[in-house]
Amino acid sequence: MRKKLTHIGGFNMVRVDLSGIEKFIKGNGPDFDAALKAFDTLMTGSGEGSDFLGWLTLAEKIKNTELSEILKAAEKIRSRSSVLVVIGIGGSYLGAKGAIELLRPVTKAGDVEILFAGNGLSPEYLNDILYRIGDRDFDVNVISKSGTTLEPALSFRFFRELLKSKYGKDADDHIFATTDAARGALKGLADTNGWETFVVPDDVGGRYSVLSAVGLLPMAAAGIDIEKIINTAIDDMAILSSASSNNPALQYAAARQLLYSLGYTTEILGAYEPSFRFMAEWWKQLYGESEGKDSIGIFPASVEYTADLHSMGQYIQEGRRDLFESIIRFDSPRFDYEIPYDEADADGLNYIAGIKMSKVNSIAANAVKEAHISGGVPNIELHIDRRDEAGLASMICFFEVACGISGYISGVNPFNQPGVEAYKKNMFRMLGKPGT
Ligand code: PA5
Repeated sequence: MRKKLTHIGGFNMVRVDLSGIEKFIKGNGPDFDAALKAFDTLMTGSGEGSDFLGWLTLAEKIKNTELSEILKAAEKIRSRSSVLVVIGIGGSYLGAKGAIELLRPVTKAGDVEILFAGNGLSPEYLNDILYRIGDRDFDVNVISKSGTTLEPALSFRFFRELLKSKYGKDADDHIFATTDAARGALKGLADTNGWETFVVPDDVGGRYSVLSAVGLLPMAAAGIDIEKIINTAIDDMAILSSASSNNPALQYAAARQLLYSLGYTTEILGAYEPSFRFMAEWWKQLYGESEGKDSIGIFPASVEYTADLHSMGQYIQEGRRDLFESIIRFDSPRFDYEIPYDEADADGLNYIAGIKMSKVNSIAANAVKEAHISGGVPNIELHIDRRDEAGLASMICFFEVACGISGYISGVNPFNQPGVEAYKKNMFRMLGKPGT
């Protein structure tokens, strides 16, 4: 049976507004029974990939284990260095980068600047990072669950050399390794050289690992309140674990799968905050790697509004009609500015003088929603109170739970990524790696 769902309120977390899809679904709402079944598969661990459900209780586990060590390590870094180089790729860096860009988009005097390396193979980019470090004091957090991924391993070689030439015998004290508890080349190196280590739990895949040391150590070094993040995540995971039609993760998962079944095969995640850009990259990996397999899956794309209305706006309004939008809306701005009155009014803007910038941003969002819906683009709104630690934690938990449900609705294993091996095989053969 299909129940009609509209938006809900009430939770101090992500709120889902589905009013913008009603016009497109002609009576039948999202298949809530199918969503509940998928939810049950996820929560009881009875589906494929159930060895990788550690993220459901990760916040609680971290609070009781590594949190204080992470805070201590971050304090050590903050007290002695101006830069932390975070080396990792995919799930081993996107969450931290997204969180830091969202919550600390500007590095202020006295802050540790977080630079990300090892997320590609470009020597030009490596050169840029080396240039940006200059002669400043720095630490390195190398993150790799497998400990063998080429991009971070290669990059780490360069930064180890740099640490050795700068700090000599103290270089090892400047390295923090986040990796498997027992296996892999990085773990072996860390043990041999006495580096401080943090664990990527066995039962947590890279793209679900942001609430482990993988994301938390770089965030804490950047001055983000990770205790607030963990406490909010514990509360939110409890709410998201309820089999209720008010569960926003269930609503979002059911709605996007309904839209996919109706031919809307690309989901565009958009926000009216430029600082959200890398959180969208994190979301793309989460959903793309979880759902894009067995020749099916919603293609995750992203836009930054209002900037992209002046570039991608044309396509979204009038291009192929296989798109739907999920729009992040932060309801309470942390900073605001009133538009000044200008006596001469040469730019003709006095008609909005005295209005807050946040109001204009929000009116723009409403105008875009109306235009895109009339142009044939279904719209889901995801409301979050504030662009702060609690809002970030709520988003992470919401998207992770919804992703698991959505994957199981579509019939795939949301926790593996067999397809990422194909290019590696070719690359290692072409590089002449022994045994390939
Ligand atoms: O989600 C994933 O599994 C991947 O994105 C990995 O995080 C990425 O390939 C990096 O792997 P590793 O942490 O083993 O270096």
